Amino acid sequence: MGTFDRDLSLTWLGHNAFHLVTPGGKHVLVDPWLEGNPMTPVGGSPIERVDVMLLTHGHGDHTGDAVRLAGRFKPTVVCNYEMHLFLQRKGVTTTAPMNKGGTQSVAGLSVTMVHAIHSSSFEDGGQIVYAGEAAGFVLGLENGTKVYFAGDTGLTMDMTFVGTLYKPDIAVLPIGDLYTMGPREAAHAAKMVGAKWVVPCHYGTFPALTGTPESLKAEMKALGVTSEVVAPKPGEPLR
Ligand code: NI
Ligand code: MN
Repeated sequence: MGTFDRDLSLTWLGHNAFHLVTPGGKHVLVDPWLEGNPMTPVGGSPIERVDVMLLTHGHGDHTGDAVRLAGRFKPTVVCNYEMHLFLQRKGVTTTAPMNKGGTQSVAGLSVTMVHAIHSSSFEDGGQIVYAGEAAGFVLGLENGTKVYFAGDTGLTMDMTFVGTLYKPDIAVLPIGDLYTMGPREAAHAAKMVGAKWVVPCHYGTFPALTGTPESLKAEMKALGVTSEVVAPKPGEPLR
């Protein structure tokens, strides 16, 4: 098992859902889609506490369980302004809206919203509702460790700013292709970001998401990118 050696625990819950426990014991949930997620670990969600929820965009494969879990655990829900308005109408009262380029402190963690190239909407009662622009996050932990969650995105030169400005230790990148970057693009993203570790996600959920960690490793090797690819099984905590 790969190790971050950063006093944190990161568990992939399949697709783009992650459960991170910080050095200070805060529980962070990213893009919760658990019910109906074919990659969600057998036995259901191990979630028993959520202090902070990060939502990259409105698509159901990222927000499917957001309202339910926000109601149950009352985390601070970080999202863009449009998603904040939508979630408030759904009864989520603990939102902390922001927009790209900004940073805020949430539960003792720093959260920076960064650019992503993707669409975004909610499906609500048969209607398609505007959900602002898709985004990524750089999460700063109590011990200075930084984790970049790219969200759903294509390759963009803006990732160079993520590398030079925020210098993340861990980069969580989509590799499934079709709706996001595939391995080839993700290898270039890894090069721009320059994190020590790369955690691939948004692959294997459906047959159409064809990217694999093995192909990512091959593309990175061909590019001379030395970041270590850490690809856990869903439900397997990385520490
Ligand atoms: Ni999406
Ligand atoms: Mn998606």
